[in-house]
Amino acid sequence: MDQLFEFWYGLVNSGTRFLWVRRPDSLVGIEDNDDIFLQVPTELAEGTRDRGYIVKFVGDVWNIGIDMKDICDRAVIEAMVRDLMEGRRDEFSQRANRLSKSAAQAAVSKTTATAATWGGHDWERRVRQSARVKQGTHGLTVLVTGASGFVGTHVSMALRRRGDGVLGLDNFNDYYDPSLKRSRQKLLERAGIFVVEGDINDRDLLTKLFDVVAFTHVMHLAAQAGVRYAMENPKSYVNSNIAGLVNLLEVCKSANPQPSIVWASSSSVYGLNSKVPFSEKDRTDQPASLYAATKKAGEEITHTYNHIYGLSITGLRFFTVYGPWGRPDMAYFFFAKDMLKGKQIKVFEGPNHSTVARDFTYIDDIVKGCLGALDTAKKSTGTGGKKKGPAQFRIFNLGNTSPVSVTELVSILEKLLKVKANKKILPLPRNGDVPYTHANITLAQKELNYKPSTDLQTGLKKFVRWYSSYYSDSKKKSGSVW
Ligand SMILES: NC(=O)c1ccc[n+]([C@@H]2O[C@H](COP(=O)([O-])OP(=O)(O)OC[C@H]3O[C@@H](n4cnc5c(N)ncnc54)[C@H](O)[C@@H]3O)[C@@H](O)[C@H]2O)c1
Repeated sequence: MDQLFEFWYGLVNSGTRFLWVRRPDSLVGIEDNDDIFLQVPTELAEGTRDRGYIVKFVGDVWNIGIDMKDICDRAVIEAMVRDLMEGRRDEFSQRANRLSKSAAQAAVSKTTATAATWGGHDWERRVRQSARVKQGTHGLTVLVTGASGFVGTHVSMALRRRGDGVLGLDNFNDYYDPSLKRSRQKLLERAGIFVVEGDINDRDLLTKLFDVVAFTHVMHLAAQAGVRYAMENPKSYVNSNIAGLVNLLEVCKSANPQPSIVWASSSSVYGLNSKVPFSEKDRTDQPASLYAATKKAGEEITHTYNHIYGLSITGLRFFTVYGPWGRPDMAYFFFAKDMLKGKQIKVFEGPNHSTVARDFTYIDDIVKGCLGALDTAKKSTGTGGKKKGPAQFRIFNLGNTSPVSVTELVSILEKLLKVKANKKILPLPRNGDVPYTHANITLAQKELNYKPSTDLQTGLKKFVRWYSSYYSDSKKKSGSVW
């Protein structure tokens, strides 16, 4: 088996992911994004086998090959090879896509671990400049983790518009198309926001950032998001949402002064809770996915740091956030993409044909909630890693309080995109998704002055406008629609 087939994972310079299977006579590849099946002669694969080896492939496309054998189970490889030999192309594609994503994660952590470059006079100057509060204002100095993510970009822009000092941090992993993260980064750069490329697990980097800048606040949004992907790559959740969080808190507790921390938990912590609308007082001890479990763990972990070290903590449970510059792994986004391509979309229904519904919350409303949380956060009370008195600990729901069924979501998209969806109705698989979410936001209204004001129709219209503009002609067009 080993002599016949070799697997390697390729990252193309555009950010597209490929999984290749090398056979004696050909090289077979799956493009991760679009399921395109490619087949090219073996000669072209020469010299591509070693990890990190760069080879000129076809046309102007450059690949970086990473050996799969280190990062995936032999049994999985063998099953894929059997699929391929016995002509089960669909099964092969599905397995390859799953594997490609886990490999991507492993590859990225490997490459980011070695590729991170920071430090030096110029770098420090950029960090300071980005974190500087606009003259004449009494703004905050905020470290935004996950700044090139969907929510991180919007929050960073909003802070900057007010005159706050903002420094971003992001590891640009390729859980979804990294070129979208790079486009968001460009947008931030144009607004004078520097996004440091690095991982929240890098203690030296975080310590350095706090040496250079006395951050008053941390807006912690970096995380491994997505419910279903947790079954493919559980480690990435533990790595970012637990280990990374603890690392960040360790650095924050030792910083002088300690910053106040506002961070993103998730509505998914309500898990199997069936009492609606979800209130902060409801039970959250029945997570339905590993993602939810890591967010719940985050709530407990932050409580510990609040209790022992006096860190001021505010956790925000976001409910299905959507909007321009959104996440391609979320249903509203890939429904739009597939509908425009004429592809079939899978619409899930709950037990006994019940509707699946979400409390979709527009990004601008979420941003207002985040800013409200930052503005009302009290100072941390510790110094030198020691608690000096009790510190604030809060948790808020940030939702829209009006759940909409997924069927309704599709019909709004149909009108906006002017296409008819080719729907396949399927029972909701047991892979972590819950059938219904609905936020009670009374607490956030009272304490943060949080008032969501965008309905799904209006918000999706803005999303579709952005989507069409961003993906028209070059795919790289960015910044024109904000
Ligand atoms: N979008 C939603 O509907 C939603 C709902 C509930 C909770 N949340 C939470 O809100 C936060 C932001 O979500 P989003 O939708 O913007 O997701 P996103 O994936 O677009 O943004 C997260 C960013 O964090 C970065 N990142 C991940 N791990 C990292 C690490 N170890 N070090 C440095 N950077 C890292 C990623 O590259 C990404 O750019 C996340 O914590 C997410 O779990 C989002």
